[in-house]
Amino acid sequence: MALLPILCYPDPRLNTVAKPVAQFDAGLRSLVDDMLQTMYEAEGVGLAATQVNVHQRVVVIDTSETRNQPLVLINPQITWLSPERLKGEEGCLSVPGIYDGVERAVAVKAQAMDVKGQMQQIEAQGMLAVCIQHELDHLMGKVFVEYLSPLKRNRIKTKILKAQRSEDS
Ligand code: NI
Repeated sequence: MALLPILCYPDPRLNTVAKPVAQFDAGLRSLVDDMLQTMYEAEGVGLAATQVNVHQRVVVIDTSETRNQPLVLINPQITWLSPERLKGEEGCLSVPGIYDGVERAVAVKAQAMDVKGQMQQIEAQGMLAVCIQHELDHLMGKVFVEYLSPLKRNRIKTKILKAQRSEDS
């Protein structure tokens, strides 16, 4: 297993639309293992392959308190979104240190394959439902700050670029 570097907003590679996984092979298993290790190490609740610059429809999530209940979603699709929506605070490993409110459906149904290619049905609410919507957005090339106003987004960009510059020097 290996830790993978996480792309940082506003890196344009985060806007790439991911392609479906076609081969359920050792390469996919090793990508999933590396993504899980990277997510746990960064103390995130979810990670999309887009964020590690792999543009395939692969997501890992763990919203458990115990950090030992990984959910692996290959070629995920949301099949139902609750009409009820709620604004909640979100963060993202690709937008370090930034938290802001995004409105999301409070419950979702989704289907996705596991790492072996078996179809699984998922019903989620609360934090898991938000996380699924957030991670699937990444696969479409969308980062949560892109829901915010252009003014807020520009402030976030400036803040992150400034932080990166001071790290580099
Ligand atoms: Ni994210």
